[in-house]
Amino acid sequence: MIINGKQIAEKVYVQLRNQISKLSPKPCLGAILVGYDQSSMRYIRQKQKWAEDLGITFELKQLPENIGETKLLELIQAWNSESHIDGYIIQLPLPKDIDAQNIINAISPEKDVDGFHPENQGKMLIGDPSGFVPCTPAGIMKIFESLEVNLEGKNIVIIGKSNIVGKPIMGLLVNAGATVTSCNSKTPSIRAYTSNADIIISAAGKPGLLKLDMIKIDSIIIDVGFTVVDDRIYGDADFDNINIAGPKITPVPGGVGALTVAMLMENTLKAYKKNRK
Ligand code: GUN
Repeated sequence: MIINGKQIAEKVYVQLRNQISKLSPKPCLGAILVGYDQSSMRYIRQKQKWAEDLGITFELKQLPENIGETKLLELIQAWNSESHIDGYIIQLPLPKDIDAQNIINAISPEKDVDGFHPENQGKMLIGDPSGFVPCTPAGIMKIFESLEVNLEGKNIVIIGKSNIVGKPIMGLLVNAGATVTSCNSKTPSIRAYTSNADIIISAAGKPGLLKLDMIKIDSIIIDVGFTVVDDRIYGDADFDNINIAGPKITPVPGGVGALTVAMLMENTLKAYKKNRK
């Protein structure tokens, strides 16, 4: 069965649109894009489209590949004290000469609507709701909520240990009472774990990684993979074969990605409410 991320996101948008229509001035989301990475440009276009659709002002700063860390840090400081910017994101990945963690650490935690700053990651881990939860993990939790999945006691396998998906979703699921296993590219036999899992979250970025014979027939597959090959987008899962066989599965595109954008808009409204009291 296909889990329709767009449909779940649309329910979030109905509520956000209603709340934002009553606000004046409107919330403002900033985005910094360094360089011309195709996937990053695609993500930013989606974020801009949905922000504007909801009535959120979208301010894009597009910077050349060779901007350098010092100049980028100056721009971040400027946005930290710019009162009309409620929240902003720095689209990743950044060029190799820039230390991404240094950049993330410089974002004001109050404006960090991506939830990547260590203060927000820490709050999420201890279950303090005053911070921002990273958008893709928050979107995955929204899918579970929408499917009315009780996560307590579920056996959940995560493939991938990134700071923006693998690690934060692990924390959210532990807090929800699940039994969680974290696998990565060095795990000798991923199949040994996935074959017993009630839920599998794959964020490896490896098309074809997750096959039907590696999973239980009644499992739920959350595919966070997003790989562009010859202008076609692939997730990590062998979608067609798994979908026909019965497990619930998120498509790529139209699955988790739709929720990631919706959660960014939700975080922007939260930032507006926090920062413009
Ligand atoms: N690159 C891939 N996913 C994301 C995301 O959620 N936020 C940002 N800023 N960059 C990304």
